[in-house]
Amino acid sequence: MQWIKLFESEAQAKAQISQTKAKAYVVQGQEICIAHTPAGLFAVENVCPHLGDALSRGTTNYLNEIICPWHSYRFHLVTGEECKGRTRPLKRFPLEIREDGVYVQFPESEPKT
Ligand code: FES
Repeated sequence: MQWIKLFESEAQAKAQISQTKAKAYVVQGQEICIAHTPAGLFAVENVCPHLGDALSRGTTNYLNEIICPWHSYRFHLVTGEECKGRTRPLKRFPLEIREDGVYVQFPESEPKT
């Protein structure tokens, strides 16, 4: 696993992502979704486990959920669980706010053969 710096500061991250929106970022060639709620910042996979819409096009709410734009499934950003258990949980990536920036932990990329 490796830590990848996404933002220079927590303030920069929060300025780029409002509390009701999410945004896609490419890390190691893979799109992830960064969400901002009252509980803070979260990093999750961007592909909805239901039928694959981009969660970064969705919205977030005060319950710390991200809502998929297609069928409105709601995923809790702390646990990854869908609120009614209709599909598998979201893959989450650890996110750390450090003095020098905001980092996301990501698996090492597979060596190309
Ligand atoms: S594709 Fe996300 S809820 Fe259906």
